[in-house]
Amino acid sequence: MRHPRAILITGASSGIGEALAVDYAAPGVFLALGGRDAARLENVAAACRAKGAEVRTAAIDVSDRETTAQWVSMIDQARPIDLVIANAGVGLEDGRTIDDAIVRKTFAINLDGTLNTVLPLLPAMRVRQQGQIALMASLASFVGLPQSAAYNASKAAIRVWGESLRQTLRHDHIGVSVICPGFVTTRLTARHKFKMPFLMSAEKASRIIRHGLARNKARIAFPLPTKSAVWLAGVLPGGVTSWLMSRGGRG
Ligand SMILES: NC(=O)c1ccc[n+]([C@@H]2O[C@H](COP(=O)([O-])OP(=O)(O)OC[C@H]3O[C@@H](n4cnc5c(N)ncnc54)[C@H](OP(=O)(O)O)[C@@H]3O)[C@@H](O)[C@H]2O)c1
Repeated sequence: MRHPRAILITGASSGIGEALAVDYAAPGVFLALGGRDAARLENVAAACRAKGAEVRTAAIDVSDRETTAQWVSMIDQARPIDLVIANAGVGLEDGRTIDDAIVRKTFAINLDGTLNTVLPLLPAMRVRQQGQIALMASLASFVGLPQSAAYNASKAAIRVWGESLRQTLRHDHIGVSVICPGFVTTRLTARHKFKMPFLMSAEKASRIIRHGLARNKARIAFPLPTKSAVWLAGVLPGGVTSWLMSRGGRG
């Protein structure tokens, strides 16, 4: 969809979600923005309103299935959603500890949170035979990188789910795109102590994502050097990839 008019974005209170919200904000555009931090969310809403958009915010936790379903359904009934961007996500692992609670929380927010956002919208979108779904995966979804096993696995599940969903929903004229960024400067990556190759700003990432969504691309993966590296790591024999990772590949 080249000019979506009603857009719902989760994880809009900072980082890539914030940049997307501000990027899409314009007169005639309705934005439903979600995040947990109400104060940060309101700041983003104010920036979007200043650009002429109509904005509604909701401080909700996407891992709460019932609340999220109520919110997205309520928005969709009031303003049928053209584009949903299931972006909320966390990277909580420290690379050393395998903590049961952190592993489960990562899946609950990244994977269940995505399902909680998208699934309640599908019946109405299918009836309307219209809509676009953007799922935030990661280049980390292509290979089991060290340091963040649960994060990588949650993103792999989102990516593959989205790639399959695209095939199913194309009969209903609903677009599905998976977004696979490399490293982007946000609160999520601020905690990384390692060197992040080809790090880019959230604003630049947003422009690339928006361009890809306007063309209904199946996969919006960037930047090219990181994309090429993870592709290579994915096609090499498992033992070779594992050896390379043990020598310091990070993601
Ligand atoms: N930065 C990167 O290098 C990179 C690369 C690939 C993919 N990604 C993905 O991009 C997405 C956005 O991350 P970011 O880098 O922009 O980091 P960020 O600045 O930390 O943004 C994460 C967003 O998700 C929201 N969020 C987290 N947990 C939530 C929950 N339980 N319920 C509702 N909202 C929640 C946060 O809102 P609150 O803080 O208000 O809860 C925030 O708005 C994530 O899915 C991430 O995995 C990032």
